Amino acid sequence: MKIIVTGGAGFIGSHTVVDLLENGFEPIIVDDFRNSKPFILDNIKKILNRDFKSYDIDCGDVDRLRVVFEKEKPDGIIHFAADKAVNESVIDPLKYYHNNITTLVNVLKVVALFPIKSFVFSSSCTVYGVPKKVPVSEKSPIQPAFSPYGFTKQVGEQILKDFAQSNPKTAISLLRYFNPIGAHPSGLIGELPLGVPNNLIPFITQTAIGIRKSLTVNGDDYETPDGTCIRDYIHVVDLASAHVLALKNSKKQKEPLVVNIGTGKGSSVLEVINSFEKVNGVKLNYSVGPRRGGDAPSVYADNSLVKKMLGWENKFNLDDALKHAWQWEKNLAEQ
Ligand code: WQD
Repeated sequence: MKIIVTGGAGFIGSHTVVDLLENGFEPIIVDDFRNSKPFILDNIKKILNRDFKSYDIDCGDVDRLRVVFEKEKPDGIIHFAADKAVNESVIDPLKYYHNNITTLVNVLKVVALFPIKSFVFSSSCTVYGVPKKVPVSEKSPIQPAFSPYGFTKQVGEQILKDFAQSNPKTAISLLRYFNPIGAHPSGLIGELPLGVPNNLIPFITQTAIGIRKSLTVNGDDYETPDGTCIRDYIHVVDLASAHVLALKNSKKQKEPLVVNIGTGKGSSVLEVINSFEKVNGVKLNYSVGPRRGGDAPSVYADNSLVKKMLGWENKFNLDDALKHAWQWEKNLAEQ
């Protein structure tokens, strides 16, 4: 089966392309490399010694995407292409409304013209806002988004629920990621934060390798055991496999499948730092600073639904992800 992977050269997209190849699918990457670099494609090929097609286009360009669909006649699509930096979305909301919503609508305009069996969408736990109760299940209330980024994910989900009603031939899955981290065990692909990282793990690895002088822990006065925020960190390889299982599960369903993709285990910032130092044998230079606006004290998944519906569960733990993330950072330094 041919699967279009928009944003397939990105962090989660590239790992999903590897999983698709391992599972006998024929992935076709559509990516304009605004958030990636061409060497990632070469490295994906090296991991399995397998080739695949890619198109260097903006997936939001309806005419050019339609030509790709006409030529490739795909059976399914995984739509990763979007921007995901919370604080950047506050500074530049229109960039996010264009790239995360207009692009999605344009992709769906093309999907509606072809017999596409399955559409898998990259959503986020950010749709829950600051949850009042943890663990967070799919029935937890969708609260007002605390960033334009989060709002684009809420709107994206609604667009797809409405699209599903008018296009029952396409089975739709909305995967709500918790905190994707780590890198492929081969050390050949991983997160490529262009510029100053927003997220914790790339900031840790860049501090450990000396790109950043020190890490600031954003507050240690939260209502949590050690005062720092708790998150559900999921290895990117485990996250990738959830996409392929969602594709395989493309039963005809009126309602989209909406599932949390998280380990169900919460880890605090200090626990992550201690785990990183222990598993990699490095000392991290960090200090505690003020809280970061918008941070929820604790967010982690109730992942019972994805286990039931897709038979998915994470194979890697936090230590594995931090070991792989560090290996990737060291390999990047040698590039
Ligand atoms: C985690 C914790 C920080 C950096 C975001 C998006 C979410 C998803 C994942 C896309 C927080 C603390 C961080 C640092 C720190 N992205 N931290 N020092 O905010 O949970 O989620 O990324 O889907 O949608 O909202 O992840 O990694 O930014 O922060 O102390 O230098 O680490 O304050 O408590 P977050 P994060």
